[in-house]
Amino acid sequence: MQKSRISPQFGSREHAFTVLSGEGMMISTKEHGTLFDAVAGYWYNILGMRHPELLDIKRKIGGTATHLYEEYTNPFAEELAESICQRTSMSQLLFSATGSMACENARKEAVKYFQAKGKTEEELVFAIKQKIELAKSNGKTIAGFFYEPIMGVRGSVPLPEKYITGIAEICRQNDILLIADEVTTGIGRAGKFFYSGSFNIKPDILCFGKAISAGHYPVAVTLFNEKIIDAWNKLEERGIPYSKIHRRGNSITGTQEGCALGLKVLEILERDNLIEQVNERGKYALEKLKKIEKYSDVREIRGTGLLIGIDIASSDLAKKTVTVKMRERGINILPEGRVIMFNPAYVISEEQIDNFVNTLSEVLPH
Ligand SMILES: Cc1ncc(COP(=O)(O)O)c(C=O)c1O
Repeated sequence: MQKSRISPQFGSREHAFTVLSGEGMMISTKEHGTLFDAVAGYWYNILGMRHPELLDIKRKIGGTATHLYEEYTNPFAEELAESICQRTSMSQLLFSATGSMACENARKEAVKYFQAKGKTEEELVFAIKQKIELAKSNGKTIAGFFYEPIMGVRGSVPLPEKYITGIAEICRQNDILLIADEVTTGIGRAGKFFYSGSFNIKPDILCFGKAISAGHYPVAVTLFNEKIIDAWNKLEERGIPYSKIHRRGNSITGTQEGCALGLKVLEILERDNLIEQVNERGKYALEKLKKIEKYSDVREIRGTGLLIGIDIASSDLAKKTVTVKMRERGINILPEGRVIMFNPAYVISEEQIDNFVNTLSEVLPH
């Protein structure tokens, strides 16, 4: 293969293959022919690729992108913001394009929240009690605690409920903001519109990305509750100009195209009852996967909704053997370390799940 000028994003690219096109849940590749994509791109093609209704939106308003901040707004952005805020009981949101941007915007706003309280020196540390004490004794403030309710990239690892409610209590006592990173779990992937709502806690800031526009456009959002908005108001009362408080925002975000796609995705999820279907299909897949539970190379199978991880003996086995053999048999997977991820589009059928499980059971040593 000709040497690529694309810098590695996530480890070695020696096994990189060329995806020529995608249609529904299938990708057409130069090296492996047509493959069923068991990871929905990277977990975001929740309705499959080139979805007809989304392509229709693109045909009608694709390429329309006016700026969002200060002077502009647009009806699609307003409606999508309203719709997501209602579904999460949050007060406002800020558009961006990727999960990283959404989380970075969350971090900035958490720091600002403490500026509003008159604190000047801020430092974010991933806190538990000792770190809070350490920060305090050094005259520093912890602005926020980021948590992912189910760690996707670690291989679908849920946070124990006691841990997250314990952390939430410590945060409450110490006035530390709770920031939920639901870039992976949000918009239905884990079987609920957003997953942090299923614990008995409420995040102050909430981040979504990936699934919002079903892979048809980069869209992400950072949502804020009233506590954050009060802090902005306090800054304004102190005479700080609005333009200094809200000096943020990213280019080509909140666009007509991205937001119209986001609205259509929400409509389809609701109309076709797809989040409920994610729950059902997830349970079905876990039930079917029981047949490989006893394989000597399988450590654990875990999952919530369609965020499923099959934890096996080693990353070498996952990458060099299982992935290669799965692709030879027509299924694309992208393991996270030693965890084979099964994060397909929400529209996956029971037959497609059966095919995935049967193929995996053939290629896994046992
Ligand atoms: C939990 C979580 N947060 C943030 C990100 C970053 O999102 P993006 O790749 O869209 O920047 C990811 C990406 O996988 C993620 O899984």
